[in-house]
Amino acid sequence: MISGTTQVLGVIGHPIEHTSSPAMHNAALEALGLDGVYVAFHVPPDGLERAIAGMRGLEIGGLNVTVPHKVDVMAHLDEISAEAQAIGAVNTIANRDGRLSGYNTDAYGVMESLRQEGGMERLPATVALLGAGGAARAILYALLQRQEMEEIVLLNRTVEKAEALAADLDPNGTKVRVGSLDGQASLHQAGLLINSTSVGMHPNTEASPVEEIDACLHDGMLVLDIVYKPLETTLMRQAKSRGARALNGLGMLVFQGARSFEIWTGEKPPTDVMRHAALQRFSK
Ligand code: ATR
Repeated sequence: MISGTTQVLGVIGHPIEHTSSPAMHNAALEALGLDGVYVAFHVPPDGLERAIAGMRGLEIGGLNVTVPHKVDVMAHLDEISAEAQAIGAVNTIANRDGRLSGYNTDAYGVMESLRQEGGMERLPATVALLGAGGAARAILYALLQRQEMEEIVLLNRTVEKAEALAADLDPNGTKVRVGSLDGQASLHQAGLLINSTSVGMHPNTEASPVEEIDACLHDGMLVLDIVYKPLETTLMRQAKSRGARALNGLGMLVFQGARSFEIWTGEKPPTDVMRHAALQRFSK
């Protein structure tokens, strides 16, 4: 029941109409009986500053931030967590008595998916990461926090972007080895392969970022494709056909949302409820 005391939460982005965040967060608010509502706000690129002023003016309690605002929004906040600062992007804003704090929950989301769904309490010594865009930044940051991981093979179509990302997050060059997407034979050593490129995403669902399937994929490997449209990508099917385990990006989506929810409400949301709500939204 929306009343005079209902706390407003939401997400800003462009485009925004396909977001599954309202479904996930409203399901969690309802499950916990909290007096809140979560809505989607369409904010075009030139409307960001006004949107954040509006958050202050309307005392909106929390916002998620998605494409294309994750980097630009940082300039409009009062403080940024060390993690979001290092990643260079904010996906969550909390409004505490008019003070806006920026966080990044994507790194938490990917690690929690690997732990809870992939059964990886510890990461393997060698991890391969495909892609060097915004998602790769948060994932690479998360990987570099883990002591047990000895080497990251970072491959991208545009090698210069991978080099710049590695130089930024691993300035001493101790852990990250950069290469082109063509140099895939090196993937075989990895116990974990994460795809953060958009290859295989709807509508090009036949495509896969891995071409040399037999040389790269094996039964000792976990493959995480952060795509969730479709829920099973060509890469995931290829991985399973070679005996590897495969995860889609739904877990990462749910756990990053769960962490945002916790930042705003102080309560741990039921992630199974959030997952179910996201799946129902996808099927519409
Ligand atoms: P996101 O925020 O989801 O990471 P992004 O920043 O646009 O999105 O990054 C997209 C990633 O997918 C990049 O690594 C991109 O490679 P480039 O840096 O070379 O552009 C990768 N990508 C997109 N389309 C690709 C394709 N057809 N083949 C290989 N890589 C592709």
